[in-house]
Amino acid sequence: MRFDGRRFLFGFFAIYTLFGDCFGLELRIEVPKAVLKGREVILKSFFDLEGDKLYSVKWYHNSAEFYRYTTTGKDSVKLFPIRGIHVVEEKSNATQVVLKHATRIISGQFSCEVTEDQPSFFTEMKTSFLEVVDPPINDPIIVGTKSKYKIGDYVKATCSADKSDPAVNLTWHINGRPVEGSLIRKFRKTVEGAYISSYSTLQFGVTEQLFNEGKLKLRCIANIHDVWQRSVERTIELRKQKQLDTADTAPAWTQTPSTDFSNEKYWLYVAKDSSGTTDGPANSNSSTNALWFNKSMFLVSVVFYIR
Ligand SMILES: *[C@@H]1O[C@H](CO)[C@@H](O)[C@H](O)[C@H]1NC(C)=O
Ligand SMILES: *[C@@H]1O[C@H](CO)[C@@H](O)[C@H](O)[C@H]1NC(C)=O
Ligand SMILES: *[C@@H]1O[C@H](CO)[C@@H](O)[C@H](O)[C@H]1NC(C)=O
Ligand SMILES: *[C@@H]1O[C@H](CO)[C@@H](O)[C@H](O)[C@H]1NC(C)=O
Repeated sequence: MRFDGRRFLFGFFAIYTLFGDCFGLELRIEVPKAVLKGREVILKSFFDLEGDKLYSVKWYHNSAEFYRYTTTGKDSVKLFPIRGIHVVEEKSNATQVVLKHATRIISGQFSCEVTEDQPSFFTEMKTSFLEVVDPPINDPIIVGTKSKYKIGDYVKATCSADKSDPAVNLTWHINGRPVEGSLIRKFRKTVEGAYISSYSTLQFGVTEQLFNEGKLKLRCIANIHDVWQRSVERTIELRKQKQLDTADTAPAWTQTPSTDFSNEKYWLYVAKDSSGTTDGPANSNSSTNALWFNKSMFLVSVVFYIR
């Protein structure tokens, strides 16, 4: 078989196009997505020289170089002053750069550029984003709730978080289970420059199934990426329906529903369920609750519509 140079070249380029990355340095960097203000930041680079020598590693902040490591000459490390960037020299080398006292002004783009030594001087660059987080000073709070509710009441609870940068995300849990978005209204308020306060209002109709031994736990969780999280919990109680009759003989939730409020529930089931689903009010497991959320979404929309 005769060696066909053109075919060989064509084949080579086809393979290079498909697997071209494998011929490079396979540069990968690790820049934290978020870090708390005042903390240390560790920037890491991973590359494979495949036996070739390293020429230089350079780090840039928003395209301004602040750290250079070179393998030629006496001074192998050079620092370039950039506002807010404080390199810890003794902890930094070719594969990692450590910055101390992160401040909000260094939020932005970090890039690493690695160059192989001669003859190739092959160069590769990777970029990633860092956000310096200035969290709220205080924990979030829940306001607007009463300590007791009766069936048919509406619970309207507002969770509020102090100013922060960036804004916190607020999520709700009822008895440990996350609450779907349709029962929640959220808004944010800019306080000073970049600082933002967050609010989230949860509104739902009270049904017996929501209560565990007469108690319902509302929890509001505030978090900023995975670097800051606080939460607050509020327990509300189910008010006994016929306090005069039942006195303290048995807790309200163990009683069979009395006629004076079963009408309300009946209406709730009829309103949604003309298909004849048999889930009764006495069921209090998760499938029933999911049904309740659906129903209450319906109820909430009816209430808004009437308004
Ligand atoms: C850079 O420093 C880190 C931490 O001290 C160390 O694990 C790593 O091996 C060093 N890299 C080089 C190329 O010396
Ligand atoms: C808030 O949540 C959204 C959606 O999950 C996410 O994209 C965003 O990064 C979060 N923000 C913070 C500050 O955690
Ligand atoms: C939940 O309720 C459904 C329907 O009422 C029932 O079929 C199911 O077995 C119940 N599940 C549990 C874990 O109790
Ligand atoms: C409404 O209920 C159905 C079945 O009961 C369930 O598949 C669906 O996920 C529920 N929708 C919401 C938004 O919870």
